[in-house]
Amino acid sequence: MTTTPLSKRSTELPPLPHWEEVPADLKAAIREIKTALRARIAASGRTVEEVFAVVEQRIAARVEEIEAAKRAGETVWPVIDYADIENGTVSAQALELLHSRGCLVVRGHFPREQAVAWDQGIVDYVESNHFFENYRGPGDDFFGSVGSKPEIYPIYWSPAQMQARQSDRMARVQAFLNAQWTHESDGVQWFDPNRDSLYPDRIRRRPPGIDSGGLGTHLDPGTLDLWMTESSQNAFRHLFDGTVEQYDPWNAAYRTDGSQYPGSTMCSAFRTFQGWTALSDMDHDQGVLHTVPIPEAMAYLMLRPLLADVPEDDMCGVTVNQVFPASETWHPLLLRAVSGIPDVKAGDSVWWHCDMIHGVAPVQNQKGWGNVMYIPAAPWCPRNERYAADVREAFRTGSSPSDFPDENYERDWANRFTAADLNHTGRRGLGLE
Ligand SMILES: [Fe+2]
Repeated sequence: MTTTPLSKRSTELPPLPHWEEVPADLKAAIREIKTALRARIAASGRTVEEVFAVVEQRIAARVEEIEAAKRAGETVWPVIDYADIENGTVSAQALELLHSRGCLVVRGHFPREQAVAWDQGIVDYVESNHFFENYRGPGDDFFGSVGSKPEIYPIYWSPAQMQARQSDRMARVQAFLNAQWTHESDGVQWFDPNRDSLYPDRIRRRPPGIDSGGLGTHLDPGTLDLWMTESSQNAFRHLFDGTVEQYDPWNAAYRTDGSQYPGSTMCSAFRTFQGWTALSDMDHDQGVLHTVPIPEAMAYLMLRPLLADVPEDDMCGVTVNQVFPASETWHPLLLRAVSGIPDVKAGDSVWWHCDMIHGVAPVQNQKGWGNVMYIPAAPWCPRNERYAADVREAFRTGSSPSDFPDENYERDWANRFTAADLNHTGRRGLGLE
């Protein structure tokens, strides 16, 4: 895969400084990049305010549409039956809604009995290895502070997780979701929609009766690197070269080779969608996932710091080593659209575009369990191929993958999933064939 030259228009504009490593002086770099981005927009013949207004108008229309749907009592999140994905019978209308909302519930992705058996399998796996007796507390500063028994299990290699990751049903849904993206343009295939890289992530098991403060609205595609690395500047080029109308959140061009700045909340992989599979039933009012279901809101988030009311050395609160916050201070328009998932059952899966704002609602005295396996769609591309080398090593040794805290609970757990248990999908996902 090679990188094709950018358009003539882009190359004629003043170039942007870029930092492929975290800049030593963050505030100075922020001032420098803001000045350069504004100069580039100005050289394209438009003003920052004008470009932002185009985006704001487009987003406001989406927000109003979502507010109207809520008033009408409609479910904001699109829902598609797994059977329709398998049979290729998803309606044009359902696809259109998936594109406009950027998120999806797949009903019956796995048979309920399968999901419940996986949930029990995880309990057996951790209990047989005395995980709770040996648990040392949260290994990172993001999902922490839930007491001695974890809500997030830093467990990656259970038979349940690996069976789900390499299953035909998972591969089919991931391919369907990947296909919503433009994965080929300018003669480059940016990713292979039919091959996933098996991004290993954790498990959440939240017991009944719990009080949880939830998780604030944020996004995960990066932090300052979104404005500061060359690949990201290319991915978001339309926002800064006078062609904002051409910005398409579903085009993967230039997204699949670069990397994020390192940090405790980074994701090395390119994900078309983040996702999880429900291992218990969860009602919509029991502290569940919410999103701002507007994929192109990313354009707003990227341009907002360039407006005059934001201090010169501030990117609306975005900094390295912390998640990208979406806040009432800078993004009130976007937060009007926050929408929760509908009730889900064990075996359903939930997906959202990798750029989208999301958070978890608080809950008191939770009814029922809240159990999920995090499994995204991370198609094969140069970036994911690079990370797959780390994943293979973590898989071989039962270690925590390098994107996550170095906890390594499973190294001497005899009953973890082994190389002999891999099928064709699993071996391809790990880059073993
Ligand atoms: Fe997140």
